[in-house]
Amino acid sequence: MTLDPARLDMPLGEVIFSQRSIRRFRPDPISADDLQLILEAAVKAPSGGNRQPARFLVLNDPELIRQFGALYREAWWAKRRDENRPWTRREEIPPEDRGSASAARLADEIKDAPCIVLALSTGKGQASSVIPSVQNLLLAARALGIGSVPTTIHPQVQERVYRLLDIPPEMEFHQCIPLGYPRGRFGSTRRRGSAEVACMNRWGAPVPWAREEAALPK
Ligand SMILES: Cc1cc2nc3c(=O)[nH]c(=O)nc-3n(C[C@H](O)[C@H](O)[C@H](O)COP(=O)(O)O)c2cc1C
Repeated sequence: MTLDPARLDMPLGEVIFSQRSIRRFRPDPISADDLQLILEAAVKAPSGGNRQPARFLVLNDPELIRQFGALYREAWWAKRRDENRPWTRREEIPPEDRGSASAARLADEIKDAPCIVLALSTGKGQASSVIPSVQNLLLAARALGIGSVPTTIHPQVQERVYRLLDIPPEMEFHQCIPLGYPRGRFGSTRRRGSAEVACMNRWGAPVPWAREEAALPK
């Protein structure tokens, strides 16, 4: 296997501006070369004191993914209960809540994803040193045409996930990222404009491009 970072040659702007959540995957496997490149990009991320606490568990065994998928699905619905959303079936999700509808579909379909990466850390309280590596992973995958979505799991299933995958109890779980070639397209995202979320020099003082941004069609 050869590691060739030059294969990540999509312009950075295109990668960042077309990166969005992909929740429907083709069954095609991801090659070991691509997985390696994606994980090498992940480990290049910064971490506090360069302590590099992030650890990754890559699942590509279909039977394990199927078993993990059942726990993920249970966890997704457990989270709805916590959030006081009284749905118990996909059909009950209001059609205008498209985000929840596609997240619920992912909960059904994740069992067939060709690959799932779990992002963990050695020790507790390390999220801020793990999430940059997850972002690198998402972007590297995008540059290779591979879709992804960062997700979390509910504590209700955590112990069973750890047991299923032999994860030592001292490891902290952060995110679960299914990966696969998209059914559907990458594309633009709906986000607040930067002028809406950024100030300059003093809190509340607008950035110089605020007026231009306000004039842009929403
Ligand atoms: C911390 C975090 C947790 C998330 N959890 C889930 C999840 O459990 N299920 C899911 O389908 N998407 C999840 N997402 C993806 C978000 O829903 C998604 O990034 C957001 O809706 C924007 O969508 P877009 O990337 O398609 O524009 C999560 C994202 C983050 C950053």
